[in-house]
Amino acid sequence: MYERYDEINPPPRLLMGPGPVDADPRVLRAMSMPLLGQFDPRFTEYMNEVMALYRQVFQTHNRWTFLIDGTARAGIEALLTSVILPGDKVLVPVLGRFGQLLCEIARRCRADVATLETEWGTVFETAQIEAAIKQHRPKLVALVQGDTSTTMAQPLAEIGPLCRAHDALLYVDATASITGMDLQTDHWQLDAVSAGLQKCLSGPPGIAPVTFNERVERLVRERKHVEEGIRGAHQDDAPGEIIQSNYFDLAMLMDYWSERRLNHHTEATSMLYAAHECARIVVAEGWERRFARHALASRALCAGLGAMGLSLFGDQVHKMPNVTGVYIPEGVTGDAVRAAMLNNFGIEIGTSFGPLHGRIWRIGTMGYGCSKRNVLSCLAALDATLRQHGHQAAWGEGVDAATEVYAAEA
Ligand SMILES: Cc1ncc(COP(=O)(O)O)c(C=O)c1O
Repeated sequence: MYERYDEINPPPRLLMGPGPVDADPRVLRAMSMPLLGQFDPRFTEYMNEVMALYRQVFQTHNRWTFLIDGTARAGIEALLTSVILPGDKVLVPVLGRFGQLLCEIARRCRADVATLETEWGTVFETAQIEAAIKQHRPKLVALVQGDTSTTMAQPLAEIGPLCRAHDALLYVDATASITGMDLQTDHWQLDAVSAGLQKCLSGPPGIAPVTFNERVERLVRERKHVEEGIRGAHQDDAPGEIIQSNYFDLAMLMDYWSERRLNHHTEATSMLYAAHECARIVVAEGWERRFARHALASRALCAGLGAMGLSLFGDQVHKMPNVTGVYIPEGVTGDAVRAAMLNNFGIEIGTSFGPLHGRIWRIGTMGYGCSKRNVLSCLAALDATLRQHGHQAAWGEGVDAATEVYAAEA
């Protein structure tokens, strides 16, 4: 006998971890729209609109700005696997766990990976990266803008020109930071950038927007091999080494996302609708209001946590505005507090990885979920839960301090 299951009807939650965070209801509504065939003229129009919208999101004029189907690491993998040749030197300045992920993916592309380390909770000085570039002479520098694992944001404006001066490409993983803080692809001379939907873009995980310029395009085109079954009769392979992955082959994806519309995978229809709506909402809000909203929530949350007697994690000058790390106070079990917040208040906050596991919680204030109401609810729930777990939290002072920050801004 087969078992019977209930329909999916998840409990209401407020997702205030490092992601995924709550999706904007408008995005969920877009996802429920009827499917279209992938070459339906209305659908290909949506594809073109997506390209135009993400050019705005990435602040770029790059023609090649489109979606990779899969979670954020699909975007990372597509860019790295299409650019890196076995034996290429790749430099990864590692801020935290997601820098380690870049190393891991680059190694699978059989790159010769050099790393630069910094203590978790800090970022690199430009001079440190410059010294490492001079020492290793990489073909590619791969960096995370906001490493969610440590809540730190690496300043990027000087890194692009530095890479150009040393004839290296610069790839940036902006999954956790995109639209929560500034990222100027063209102005900062970033050659390739990838992202994900499930953080500040306020969509579900499952699509990775990417953008790359002509410097990257040139390398990818040199490796173009079109698969049997769709290649034209007189199509010659490019002289370069075939890209190892079929699914993440940017050369073939460029054919699919251009006027040629050469069939590759079946585009993830509902996820494309979601990505379209995520970007449309960002563009409608505008950069100034959006960055100010994230910065204000960060200030209010930090003021509230401080007033509760808690200590913030990491270099506060370089803290991401959309994720906050806070030390778990002495005598309290981090996971027990998280479980109680979830069970009693329906609020999820994040645990952490590696050397920070059991030492800090991470609280996300991202996109749709980045609001005064959520900041205050989270502080109130944490305050009550800490008291219930034997910690001398300050009755309501966290909420009061955060409220004051909002009031001062009003
Ligand atoms: C900075 C960063 N990069 C990459 C990833 C990997 O994303 P995904 O789990 O969607 O593949 C994450 C996920 O949290 C992230 O925060």
